[in-house]
Amino acid sequence: MARVDGNARDMTGISKVGVIGAGTMGAGIAQVAAQGGMDVVLIDTTDEFVQRGVSRIESGLRRLVDKGRIDANARDSVIARIAPGTDLELIAEVDLVVEAVIESFDAKAAVFRDVSDVVGSSTILATNTSSISITALAGTVPHPEQFVGMHFFNPVPVMKLVEVVRGLQTDDRTAAIVHDAATRLGKTPVTVADIPGFAANRILMPMINEAIFALSEGVASADDIDTVMTLGASHPMGPLALADLIGLDVCLHIMEVLHGDFGDSKYRPAPLLRQMVAAGRLGRKTGQGFHQYEDA
Ligand code: 3HC
Repeated sequence: MARVDGNARDMTGISKVGVIGAGTMGAGIAQVAAQGGMDVVLIDTTDEFVQRGVSRIESGLRRLVDKGRIDANARDSVIARIAPGTDLELIAEVDLVVEAVIESFDAKAAVFRDVSDVVGSSTILATNTSSISITALAGTVPHPEQFVGMHFFNPVPVMKLVEVVRGLQTDDRTAAIVHDAATRLGKTPVTVADIPGFAANRILMPMINEAIFALSEGVASADDIDTVMTLGASHPMGPLALADLIGLDVCLHIMEVLHGDFGDSKYRPAPLLRQMVAAGRLGRKTGQGFHQYEDA
């Protein structure tokens, strides 16, 4: 993306993306970017983490081939567009960086510090944070006007939404380019303000938290609470099953951010949620959450 300085700014968009973090979200973002025709560099800290991300992408694409959605040639060209590695120098030429590392301000700020040393001055920096202030993270980079939130949803290849979160300093050009990039990935972007929880998690997490209160008060069993919401409200999965999919540690963290930042007791995390996390019952990733999973 050649940027023209001054008023005649280049809006041709993104052709090369660097994804930092090859976990569930990062691998999903890399997959949809490559499927969208972009060249992708997928970075993590160890070969093992990178390889795990690549395996996730391969199995996601296998799923599509098995269903006849794409053929083997298309799968191979998607894989060929992804350059995996551990050396941050690989992202020197990208137009857009999407960071998807652990949900910690310090960890993300450290990533953006290192990224800023490597990329060009016109590169757009995006974070997939679910709860951290975009404005605060933007304060750690040299060009906060080119910093934005790009909030994807799990499972990334399936979920259509991307929240484009504008920090206080995000400029119109950055927001427009990221909006366009999300559309090219087959997603529907919605622009939201940098207010805790943005839009989706501010609404979704209190619902999940309330379902956990209902469970602990004996309103109904976990299965029945989920059935109530799948059959009574047409949700694709119940709130407790969804909490297990997201990760109970992630849900707790987001509730703590909402509670702390708004200072409103309506966001207090359910004690049972805290207990589940303390017990290491984090949902699908540990094999046990509100439900049990055999394939963890
Ligand atoms: N990767 C890729 N594709 C997947 C997938 C995965 N992990 N899981 C399911 N799919 C695909 C299936 O292949 C299938 O595709 P098809 O319709 O094209 O054949 C489709 O999704 C439906 O899957 P299944 O038939 O196996 O199962 P379900 O119908 O039960 O759907 C689900 C599974 C897509 C997870 C659905 O239950 C759902 O949409 N649940 C809600 C998910 C949700 O709300 N996610 C957002 C979480 S919040 C978040 O991420 C924000 C963060 O900040 C916390």
